[in-house]
Amino acid sequence: MSTSWDVQQVVVDTGALERERPILDKYADDKKAGYVRYYAERQDHIMRAQPLLWEQVDKSFQFQYLKTHGLKPEHRFLEYGCGTASAGKHIIDYLQPQKYVGVDISAESIRIGWMILAKYELFKKGPVLHVIPAGDLAPLKGLTFDTIWAQSVFTHCPPDIVKQIFNNLKPHISEGGCFYATISRIEEGIVQKQFHDWYYTLEFFDSAAPECGYDYEVMEDWVHPADYLAKGFSKDTLLRFTPR
Ligand SMILES: C[S@@+](CC[C@H](N)C(=O)[O-])C[C@H]1O[C@@H](n2cnc3c(N)ncnc32)[C@H](O)[C@@H]1O
Repeated sequence: MSTSWDVQQVVVDTGALERERPILDKYADDKKAGYVRYYAERQDHIMRAQPLLWEQVDKSFQFQYLKTHGLKPEHRFLEYGCGTASAGKHIIDYLQPQKYVGVDISAESIRIGWMILAKYELFKKGPVLHVIPAGDLAPLKGLTFDTIWAQSVFTHCPPDIVKQIFNNLKPHISEGGCFYATISRIEEGIVQKQFHDWYYTLEFFDSAAPECGYDYEVMEDWVHPADYLAKGFSKDTLLRFTPR
């Protein structure tokens, strides 16, 4: 459902693709939000089958990185695409009460997220999790954040959705604040692997970021502990966007 960019499609598992096709077909007529609805339903299925999937992975590296890059307990923090708050729980634990908001298109992820926050006794920190169907940020009306963090979200978004997210988030970035997002970086073109994995060059962001009113920089010191899984095809890369 990407309309305006030249995308190379790569299929590595035809069986998996065919199993997912009915979900994609279900939303095919929705040109604006069809892809996001497909992804949310796919994610809901995965989380129902494996509710503790993200809990099996140590995601504290995200918090450690943010802390060494100036995250302070008093900062207002939005985790965009927070999943089950498996990284978020480390951030919530560090922040002062009422400073963390997590949003995700997958209702099942948010439901499990609340359970995880209960398990770690983090309700005392007043965290807020919202389901945002089709990426609608209405629940954030009037709120701004010092840091917005989207780990492994653009890696699952086509170009028009990346730009939509840029536009949706912009009013929610505080004066002096910024938006971090990881991408799966390649050297040429835009690649869609299966339906749901997206790979980008920096060239794409060279044009998309200013078009949506952002400057950006590559965070050269970012290392994703599982990047070796990409087996040289791509490099997990962290970008920091600041509104112009
Ligand atoms: C690979 S998971 C990563 C979850 C979390 N950031 C972490 O590091 O544990 C990607 C998450 O992004 C969410 N997501 C994907 N596309 C999204 C979109 N357009 N808007 C908001 N969330 C999205 C998915 O539902 C999923 O929970």
